[in-house]
Amino acid sequence: MKQEISSSTVCPVWVSGANGQLGRCIRDCAASTDSRYRFLFTDIAELDITDGEAVNRFLVENRVEVIINAAAYTAVDKAETDIAAATLLNSSAVAGLAQAARAHNTLLIHISTDYVFDGEATVPYTVESPLHPISVYGATKAAGEEAIRASGCRALIIRTSWLYSVYGHNFVKTVLQLGQAAHELRMVNDQFGAPTSAHDLAQAIISLLSYRSVIKDCVVLHYANEGEISWYDFACAIVELAGCHVVVAPVPTSACPTAARRPRYSVLDLSRIKTEFGITIPCWRDSLKQVVERLLQF
Ligand SMILES: NC(=O)c1ccc[n+]([C@@H]2O[C@H](COP(=O)([O-])OP(=O)(O)OC[C@H]3O[C@@H](n4cnc5c(N)ncnc54)[C@H](OP(=O)(O)O)[C@@H]3O)[C@@H](O)[C@H]2O)c1
Repeated sequence: MKQEISSSTVCPVWVSGANGQLGRCIRDCAASTDSRYRFLFTDIAELDITDGEAVNRFLVENRVEVIINAAAYTAVDKAETDIAAATLLNSSAVAGLAQAARAHNTLLIHISTDYVFDGEATVPYTVESPLHPISVYGATKAAGEEAIRASGCRALIIRTSWLYSVYGHNFVKTVLQLGQAAHELRMVNDQFGAPTSAHDLAQAIISLLSYRSVIKDCVVLHYANEGEISWYDFACAIVELAGCHVVVAPVPTSACPTAARRPRYSVLDLSRIKTEFGITIPCWRDSLKQVVERLLQF
C-alpha cells in the first residue's frame, strides 16, 4: 500500500464515539490538521450508532467519505454479565456501520483490540494470527471484526492495546490517583503487552486518511506504542515519572481475580503499519512521559 492520494476536494470524515478517550484525542489532532478534511464529531447523544436508519441518513446528508468508529463498549469486566449491551455496541452496531459503509462506498476505519487473542503466544501477534478471545468483551470485538469482513465494505481494522490518555478512565490515571492515596500498589507481573497513547493512535489514524482511496477491501493493522512490558512495569514507570513515593509490589494474576480473563501475552506485531503505511511509532516510555506530565499539570 505505497500510494498516497492528493486531492483538492475536502473529505468529510465522521468520528463516532467522539467523547471517548480516543475520540477526544482525534478531536485534538484534527484541530491541528490541514483543511483537507472536514471532521464531524458525534457521540451517543447526537448519533447512536445502534440506530441503523439514523446512521444511513447521516452518511447521505453529510456525504461522509470516511467513518472512524471510536465508539465501543469498553468495560471489560462488566461485559461478562452485560453481554447483550456489549454485543449490541461491539458487534451488531459495527455490522450496521459496515453495511452502511458498503452501501455508500464509504471507508470504515474501525478500532479493535488485542483482547481478540487468547494470549497463549510467545511472540507478537501478527495481523493474520487467528482470533481466539477469552472474554465476552474480546468475543464481541472479534464478532465486530468478522461482520466488517463479511460485509465486503472497504475497511481498515486497527487493533490496539492498553489505551490511555489525559481523558476518560484508564490505567495511568488510576495509578496516579492510587499513588497519592495508598502506601502500596499490587500490580500483576505475568501479563505482558504494550501501552498505547491514544494521542499517538489518533495521529496515526489521521495520517492513514491519506490512503483512503487506495484501500479497496478489508485491511487489518496493528498499532501500539513500541515495546513490551507487564502491568507491573507500566505502574512502576508511571510512579517513577510522576515522582510518587508509593511502593509497587509485583503479584501474579492469581492474586488479583477479575470477572473477565485477560490474555497473558498480547503484544501486537507492528510491522505492517510501519512498512506498508509508513507510520512511525514512538516508544511507550516517551509517550507515557508526555501524558504523565500533562496530567500532573491539571
Ligand atoms: N481502552 C482500552 O484500553 C482499549 C484497548 C484496546 C482497544 N480499545 C478500543 O479502542 C476504541 C476506543 O476506546 P476508548 O478507550 O476511547 O473508549 P471509550 O473511552 O469507552 O469511548 C467510547 C465512546 O463511545 C460512546 N458510545 C457508547 N455507546 C454509543 C453509541 N450507541 N453510539 C455512539 N457512541 C457511543 C461512549 O459514550 P459513553 O461513555 O456515554 O458510554 C464513549 O464516549 C474502542 O473500540 C475500544 O474497544 C480500547
